[in-house]
Amino acid sequence: MPKRRILIHPDPRLKTVVAPVSDIGDDIRALASDMLETMYAAPGIGLAAPQVGALARVLVMDCSTRGEGPLTPMVLVNPETVASSGEKAVYEEGCLSIPEQYAEIERPAEVTVEWLGLDGETRREDFDGLWATCVQHEIDHLNGKLFIDYLKPMKRQIITRKMKKLKRELGRE
Ligand code: NI
Repeated sequence: MPKRRILIHPDPRLKTVVAPVSDIGDDIRALASDMLETMYAAPGIGLAAPQVGALARVLVMDCSTRGEGPLTPMVLVNPETVASSGEKAVYEEGCLSIPEQYAEIERPAEVTVEWLGLDGETRREDFDGLWATCVQHEIDHLNGKLFIDYLKPMKRQIITRKMKKLKRELGRE
């Protein structure tokens, strides 16, 4: 069983701009560990704290394996995009909070991101390929933004209607 329940859109917590983490303590470490377990169980390649109802600027991701080879879990606290390429890339995106809905989304092909590790140290890395798309998708979550917000209103409404129906069926309203 996954450690934490993943919220399904629409939910006000998924539309919230989340405040930075001021102190990386046991609660944040436990949250990150639970989030990784929840993400791998889903299965997914990225998960942001608001998706499990935790309003903290924390995201986890692992785009490396897709079930093969060793896991390479990453935990990013207070991540910030400090540079984006002019070159764009298109990926078909999905989201654990919008189950079984996918759409092609265009984003910068490469980004440089700075964040704090769980040890409190600042890290900085360049991401490309799927990692770049994933980290931007997850940082969006920390700013209350979903991938469907990039779609035309009509398409977004259709997906939102499907999700409301799903939530009713699951008794998750
Ligand atoms: Ni998502």
